[in-house]
Amino acid sequence: MALSEDFLQELRSRNSITSVISGYVQLKRRGRTEVGLCPFHGEKTPSFTVYPDTESFYCFGCGIGGDVINFIRHAENLDYIDAVRLLAQRSGLEMPQDNSFDDSMRNLRLRIYEANREAARFFHSTLISPTGRQGLDYLRSRNLSDKTIRTFGLGFAPDSWSALSDYLIKEKGFKPNELVEANLSFRNKKGGLTDRFRNRVMFPIIDLRGNVVAFGGRIMTDEKPKYLNTSDTPAFKKSYNLFALNKAKNSKSDKIILCEGYMDVIAIHQAGFDYAIATLGTALTSEQARIIKRYTNNVIICYDADEAGQKATARAIEILRQENLNIRVLTVPDGKDPDEFIRKNGENGHIRFKMLIEGTGTDIEYQLLKLKSSFDTTTTDGTVRYMNAAARVIAQIDNPVERDVYEGKVCDEFNVTKEEFKRLVNSVIRSSRRREKTREFEKIKNDLAVPAKNETVYTNRRQMRSQKAEEFVITYLLNNVDMAKAVYAELKPEQISEGFHRRLYETIIQRAMNNRSSGFTDISGEFTMEENSRIAAMLTKYSPSLHTYDACKDYVNAILEDHEFVSAKQLSEQSDQDVQSYLDSLKNKKLGNKI
Ligand code: CTP
Ligand code: MN
Repeated sequence: MALSEDFLQELRSRNSITSVISGYVQLKRRGRTEVGLCPFHGEKTPSFTVYPDTESFYCFGCGIGGDVINFIRHAENLDYIDAVRLLAQRSGLEMPQDNSFDDSMRNLRLRIYEANREAARFFHSTLISPTGRQGLDYLRSRNLSDKTIRTFGLGFAPDSWSALSDYLIKEKGFKPNELVEANLSFRNKKGGLTDRFRNRVMFPIIDLRGNVVAFGGRIMTDEKPKYLNTSDTPAFKKSYNLFALNKAKNSKSDKIILCEGYMDVIAIHQAGFDYAIATLGTALTSEQARIIKRYTNNVIICYDADEAGQKATARAIEILRQENLNIRVLTVPDGKDPDEFIRKNGENGHIRFKMLIEGTGTDIEYQLLKLKSSFDTTTTDGTVRYMNAAARVIAQIDNPVERDVYEGKVCDEFNVTKEEFKRLVNSVIRSSRRREKTREFEKIKNDLAVPAKNETVYTNRRQMRSQKAEEFVITYLLNNVDMAKAVYAELKPEQISEGFHRRLYETIIQRAMNNRSSGFTDISGEFTMEENSRIAAMLTKYSPSLHTYDACKDYVNAILEDHEFVSAKQLSEQSDQDVQSYLDSLKNKKLGNKI
């Protein structure tokens, strides 16, 4: 992945981290930094911080960080080279043409998009041809208008072993391998290709950039599986996509209706609500919740009325709450799914559905209602148990005013004094906070745990000190790229104790030896996203004004001293006595008191 220095430098200078990130996050200046609400996890007080000085960002809430390229990778879910490409495009910079970077993955992905687009065209034209009669009749029997069929690009996969594969290879020039990678075909025993989708009505899945990324295919009888979907491919990840979001994102409405099924979404759109979307046959993921949050803060969950649907609702509430979305729950009466409800109401379908939308309760109301139906609140015992459970639901609410409203509602219903009930809720909140604290504490204890030995504490202090010193030296070099050779003269990579630090240091030094620069953006491509977050976290610890060469020299000395100590200690494990005296002599030497 060799992008030239000059190119990266130009890219960096045209895409200052603040200008790029402010397209995604509302930033407020705070001293030398800018802060805002993290786009990668739900939060109400800003812990997402941008450091223009080091051209890096870091979220103290979720630990995601990096340089401007990493930001785009996280925000747009792109790989390294595509993130670079996006930034280049954004700033009118031409990508280098020398093919020095590996483009094969991207090329394959583009071929898959093209194959899918051709497949969607094939399915649709088959649907409206005599071969597709059965499919068209089926869709019409499900009340879909021709206009709806067209706008959703629905289609039909003929009852044939290889009609699509043959067409795409012979007429459109695709290679068998590309169709297999696209999951449109698979290799049969004879070595030929078999179509994955046969004798099904087809629902194309289109991403936010308008690419056809996958398909769902429904069988027209009661056979199983009812739906067959594209598996994950290089161009498609189920947990990152939502059916019909490409349409819903353009809606004028400020909300989104989240459904379980393709047919529900299409029926709701046809009834005049152009903001319905669905997950693709799996439970809602936090990635999807974050994608939704880019377009709206208001989500109406509209899952099936059956038990599975209600379980999924509870889970979705949890996930959407983590992203701080406002949640409402629409319950379809009579155990129907939204599509059936609209269809059964005929002419009045859209009006009746509108009433359901307007009658939705918040997620808390929904949970309280469900709870109430599971306790016998005509008895004292049942009421007490309900109140206890209700307190746990209300304790999830962060905002005290909002909490107060629900506390009032519950109390009014059962003639309980609000003070008592509030005390109960507060005690739940306190104990869950305590639990959280204990968990955090346990984690720190685990992180620091070292085998018990006499000089354990002492060694520990050494280790912590050299860790800190290593971080300082590395961040110093990232900000002072010209100093690498001078530091290398004093400190060799093998003297760095921590593995990741060593690799980072090596990378920086190697580049310096080849007279290549080694700022954060220059090296970020050589590390994973998690590692980049770690580098960004390190950078947050030292303001550039602390990064003087003198300080760096002190830290280098500390590393060397600790390295010597640890080497000696390893020796001592072989021959106790004589090295012990050496250790003692080391202890007596004054520890660098700069740290
Ligand atoms: N699903 C799936 N594979 C299955 C069954 C369901 O991928 N074998 C997914 C589909 O995305 C489907 C959704 O789960 O749309 C909800 O399933 P279900 O409620 O059974 O389907 P409906 O959309 O209601 O389909 P229909 O009305 O055609 O029966
Ligand atoms: Mn259905």
